[in-house]
Amino acid sequence: MWRAGLGASVSVPLRIGVVGLGYWGPNLARNFHSLPTSELVWCCDPSDQARERVAPTVPGAHMTGRLDDLLEDPSLDAIVLATPVPTHAELAVRVLDAGKHCFVEKPLAQSVLDAERVVKAAQDAGRTLMVGHLLEYHPGVARLKELADSDELGDIRYIYGNRLNLGKLRADENALWSLGAHDVSVLLHLVDEEPYELTARGESYVRDGVEDVVFCFLRFPSGIAAHLHLSWLDPHKERRFTVVGSKRMATFDDMAIEGKLTVYDKGFDEDSRSYGEYISRSGDIYCPRIPNVEPLRIECEHFLNAIQNNTPPRSDGHCGLRVVRVLEQLQHELERSKRATASRPPAEAARPLNLS
Ligand SMILES: NC(=O)c1ccc[n+]([C@@H]2O[C@H](COP(=O)([O-])OP(=O)(O)OC[C@H]3O[C@@H](n4cnc5c(N)ncnc54)[C@H](O)[C@@H]3O)[C@@H](O)[C@H]2O)c1
Repeated sequence: MWRAGLGASVSVPLRIGVVGLGYWGPNLARNFHSLPTSELVWCCDPSDQARERVAPTVPGAHMTGRLDDLLEDPSLDAIVLATPVPTHAELAVRVLDAGKHCFVEKPLAQSVLDAERVVKAAQDAGRTLMVGHLLEYHPGVARLKELADSDELGDIRYIYGNRLNLGKLRADENALWSLGAHDVSVLLHLVDEEPYELTARGESYVRDGVEDVVFCFLRFPSGIAAHLHLSWLDPHKERRFTVVGSKRMATFDDMAIEGKLTVYDKGFDEDSRSYGEYISRSGDIYCPRIPNVEPLRIECEHFLNAIQNNTPPRSDGHCGLRVVRVLEQLQHELERSKRATASRPPAEAARPLNLS
């Protein structure tokens, strides 16, 4: 069956190729293989081992080490990139220039300049570009967004995120880019503004020059503040977001098996009899029901629907670019703080605190 879409004909089911079969790519391949509106036609990775590992899980898909096999297949509608971050921009531009719709894993690119190049390539080609901001498709985050947009939490005061773990260490990106891409995308999704003030501090312990732990602070024009704690060198495994509103507070905890979202009827109420004194309120705590659907499946379906209906995906190229812009500014702040520390005289840096 053929349908018109985005100025070009697209097949239904859509014919998909997945590139990069390391840790994450096989999850994307599994979903596009099992969804009724897509057909996984190609899997690509230069590593023989990776292809051999994935082939039995996606029967019927062609395996190749050459991206050109996918780009030259006129029947292929879309290509999904799950390759290392430094390759994203260059590969995405090749995919779009070949006239294929493109899904790129997060972050879209390693610089604003590269991200802009990809966005322009999508516009020029008239093809769908979507970035894998997975959490924007999580039903728990969707419910949190509903709460934040309604009056249920009141005015949002501040938001903080914790993304902590022990591993997975990366050599080609630091904890900010590897872990922070998720949190920045959720933050921008919730606040729907761009921050005007950003600071970031981080430390490298395991590998010189690659930050294992990063603390970020952001301020938005509406007055909302945000803090992100990102680390792959931590005893705790946490993936948590807390939103503090004037009426209520809510926490999204992706590690929780049940009760991923909790709403706390907590805050300060003015006691009119006590001349401006405030008394704290601690009411009900409840967990809204969250549909038990794999967020990655929702994300993959969203990509297919965006192509078929010729509608911009939620995490389109502009959204990906916004996230890269924030990450790049935070990276500048990290580097600025490192330079400031390095230029301090050693004696001053080592001077003990005099607490008397
Ligand atoms: N959404 C999520 O929750 C999530 C989780 C993990 C990783 N990711 C993203 O997925 C991407 C891949 O991460 P990973 O952890 O799977 O990395 P990985 O290093 O485990 O795998 C990358 C694979 O890409 C292959 N590759 C490298 N260059 C290639 C090229 N030019 N053409 C084809 N294949 C190539 C490598 O051989 C390797 O098998 C990254 O962008 C990462 O940010 C997303």
